[in-house]
Amino acid sequence: MPSKRQISLGLFLFASGHHVAGWRCPGAQSDATFNPSFMADMARKAEAACFDMVFLADNNCIQQDDWLAVRRMARPNIFEPVALLSALSMVTRRIGLVATGSTTYSEPYHIARSFGTLDYLSNGRAGWNIVTTSNSLEAWNFGRESHPAHADRYKRAAEFVEVTKGLWDSFEDDAFIRDKESGIYFDASKLHVLHHKGEHFSVRGPLNLGRPPQGHPVLVQAGGSDAGRDLAARTAEVIFAVNQALPDAQAFYADVKARVAAHGRDADLVKVMPGFFPVVGRTRTEAEDHMAELQRLLHPDVGLSLLSFLTGGFDLSGYDVDGPLPDLPDTDVGKARIKVIADLAKRENLSIRRLYERIAVSRGHHMIVGSATEVADRMEEWFEGKAADGFNVMPPTFPAGLDAFASLVVPELQRRGLFRTGYAGTTLREHLGLPRPAHLSRGQVALPA
Ligand SMILES: Cc1cc2nc3c(=O)[nH]c(=O)nc-3n(C[C@H](O)[C@H](O)[C@H](O)COP(=O)(O)O)c2cc1C
Repeated sequence: MPSKRQISLGLFLFASGHHVAGWRCPGAQSDATFNPSFMADMARKAEAACFDMVFLADNNCIQQDDWLAVRRMARPNIFEPVALLSALSMVTRRIGLVATGSTTYSEPYHIARSFGTLDYLSNGRAGWNIVTTSNSLEAWNFGRESHPAHADRYKRAAEFVEVTKGLWDSFEDDAFIRDKESGIYFDASKLHVLHHKGEHFSVRGPLNLGRPPQGHPVLVQAGGSDAGRDLAARTAEVIFAVNQALPDAQAFYADVKARVAAHGRDADLVKVMPGFFPVVGRTRTEAEDHMAELQRLLHPDVGLSLLSFLTGGFDLSGYDVDGPLPDLPDTDVGKARIKVIADLAKRENLSIRRLYERIAVSRGHHMIVGSATEVADRMEEWFEGKAADGFNVMPPTFPAGLDAFASLVVPELQRRGLFRTGYAGTTLREHLGLPRPAHLSRGQVALPA
């Protein structure tokens, strides 16, 4: 372990790039989401740059159904993320592998089993991003008329996480003795049947999987509302966040760390990692030119549609794009992000057009356009200023944006002693400095001697 606190880095691997028009750039692989060997190349590049993890977001739907705009986006094809990470686990050795799994549109047994399996396949590199699902369109793919209410989704999520952890503890770590002499494969006194009966779930158990190598895959959480922060404070080991400006990020950081401590947990063992959208060049001019090129490729239909999506589906089509953003009604989805967007528009007095040019680009996450030194300065400022323990890096394009970050910014962070130059451990928990959770013995099975 380095004595100095260091930055954690995730690579948010997303289509051909995070800029919605990025796929049209010469430096982008336009078929990225159809191309598993390209995804493997990106994971290996991130590993060569010593990132802590690769992160795959997920939705069980095409994110929007405004087809006029969606046909211009490189996002309708999304591989099931645990399946893709399972493939990536075979071509990487150290980097953590984190994916989203919805607590609203899946069952604890499925999540425990698939992420537990990924932890085995990767020798302890799995992480689960717990989301209550922001996209109401998913309801229609699961036989429901509508998306459950925000408060109900979070109540289900809290119980979901406890059941999943209980299932991962179905066997103690040393239950599998495989004694050829006695013919006993596992020690039944180390088997635990959960017998969970709660408000949302009835799960007997046990899980048909030994305890995962990390005990539990790393728990990540990304909801920014009050209920989301509370769930994060109770359960998460990594918190993904959306913050535009340093003071907001500092306030978020202080708030979630205080909530973690209030739950009797060690706040230093919960890593806050805001999204970070860097457009990097060898000089600031080169970065600005690249940004201008990306923005030229952004079609107005796409910008408007994305802004509407990110503000909870509010229809902006009847408003003057060069006029101000109207007051947005309270909604049930993505509350934290809507506030970030509305605050930005107000703070900088942005028209709808200027706002979508900003928001469609980074989806509300912090953006910087500059040289490697400027980007590293900003990361250092946030890291030292108690706004972040690390960053979920969102390159505007793949591979060019990742190559620029890995070859220009990573060495600068390393030179400053802010980022590792090699992996010290082999598991994601070790990269992040997180302890392995103790086994909680629940529902022990008693067999006659
Ligand atoms: C970095 C990051 C990644 C996210 N990934 C997903 C995702 O993959 N799927 C999803 O449905 N929501 C995702 N979200 C959204 C949140 O987890 C959450 O569902 C949403 O913000 C609504 O919760 P809230 O009202 O508590 O903010 C992500 C958010 C962030 C900041």
